[in-house]
Amino acid sequence: MEDTAKLIIDGKEILLPVFTGSEGEKAIDIRRLRQETGCITFDPGYGNTGSCKSAITFMNGEQGILRYRGIPIEQLAEHSTFVETAFLLITGKLPSQQELTRTSVYLSDFSPIHENMKSFYRNYPPHSHPMGILAAMLNALRSFYPELVDIDEEGEMAMNTTFLRIISKIRTMASMAYRFSTGKRVIYPRPDLCYCANFLNMMFDSPVVPYRIDDDLVRALNVFWILHADHEQNCSTTAVRVVGSSKVNLYAAISTGISALWGPLHGGANQAVINMLQDIEKKGMTIAQCIAKAKDKKDPFRLMGFGHRVYKTYDPRAKIMKKMCDIVLSKIKRQDPLLEIAQNLEEAALSDNYFKEKNLYPNVDFYSGIVLRAMGIPTAMFPVMFAIGRLPGWIAQWKEDTTDPEMKISRPRQIYIGETQKDYIPIDQR
Ligand code: SDX
Repeated sequence: MEDTAKLIIDGKEILLPVFTGSEGEKAIDIRRLRQETGCITFDPGYGNTGSCKSAITFMNGEQGILRYRGIPIEQLAEHSTFVETAFLLITGKLPSQQELTRTSVYLSDFSPIHENMKSFYRNYPPHSHPMGILAAMLNALRSFYPELVDIDEEGEMAMNTTFLRIISKIRTMASMAYRFSTGKRVIYPRPDLCYCANFLNMMFDSPVVPYRIDDDLVRALNVFWILHADHEQNCSTTAVRVVGSSKVNLYAAISTGISALWGPLHGGANQAVINMLQDIEKKGMTIAQCIAKAKDKKDPFRLMGFGHRVYKTYDPRAKIMKKMCDIVLSKIKRQDPLLEIAQNLEEAALSDNYFKEKNLYPNVDFYSGIVLRAMGIPTAMFPVMFAIGRLPGWIAQWKEDTTDPEMKISRPRQIYIGETQKDYIPIDQR
């Protein structure tokens, strides 16, 4: 017998279907609700609302579980590379050696951008935020590379040309935003370098002091981007799905994902965490003062990098990121005073009832800024690093949405609370 939920409203009783996902999660299907009851549901921020069925990423917020296509994030962080993880997310399977090699060759071939795009960068005011530049460049890409949606032999929109183009070129466009903002000469991608090494080289190479590729830092960047690659229906992925549901091109949908991620409550939190830690250090604030401010409803101060809509325990990515701090800092033989402040903040918050009662734990952003600083990435580029990592997830989710026959253009309803009908008053009578 099909699972159902009984709803009684205005004396009327209706049965709504209930379906169960592969991990035992249940959903009440309310697609007939309005036509049968005249009612809609109300759920600001969609904390209790499923927007889609998805086979890409599974999270269990109570147990701190995160899996991409069924594979635990811990195993991917230990054994995989970012390119291989991108292939897994988008196609649903781990690539064969031949598929991985072919993907890497394409990513290398597609890494340059059209020379005419450089003029866009020249005309931005100095210190323009790189996330605004990147969002604009994604839209500009379509003018130079109209998307080719090639369907492979299984009729599947596999790891196709447009996906590879965007994944490859986002590194070049991101590093150019940094190079132009510092007045440095643009460094072109090198065909002999892998995905992550190429990015670091484009960021930091110089004719005076050639950048030395450090395998440990390249590994750390692979892990950083693997940890950020997807996270089911977060704010920016929802933006990509909603905008993509209008059947606009993929570049425009990804551009909105970058814009949504820029916010300090979302992907901009990694930059906000470092700004918070630097502020604490500069003002000589005690840990107790910070915790008190974070708990004070009248104080706008928030413990950035703490709390999560889904995780009500330690974000599994934060655990890995915290370990990476020690690895990267010991590699560059430098201590970071902000790390000690972060560790003391975490210790104090995790033993404080306010944070315990509200299930507020470190999320992926709490330690990621320390890792990026150790790699030499400037703070303004932190959300950009998140965007490059999240790109394969956005593409995978866009592909799933646009090829799902059940999905339609996103158009939520509302409950109107404004003025009831009244007449227009001519201006000379107001
Ligand atoms: C990311 O969704 C994803 O998957 C996102 C992400 C991904 O990979 O895509 O994981 C990436 O965005 C991580 C989150 C990065 N943002 C931050 O670190 C910013 C600081 N965190 C908060 O602003 C907040 O925790 C959110 C935005 C992350 C979650 O907000 P919710 O789920 O809407 O929760 P809420 O704001 O309603 O908070 C519940 C309570 C509130 O107190 P009460 O009103 O119940 O008394 O907890 C408090 C909040 O005031 N609270 C905090 C807090 N976070 C929540 N109090 C102090 N410091 C904080 N950081």
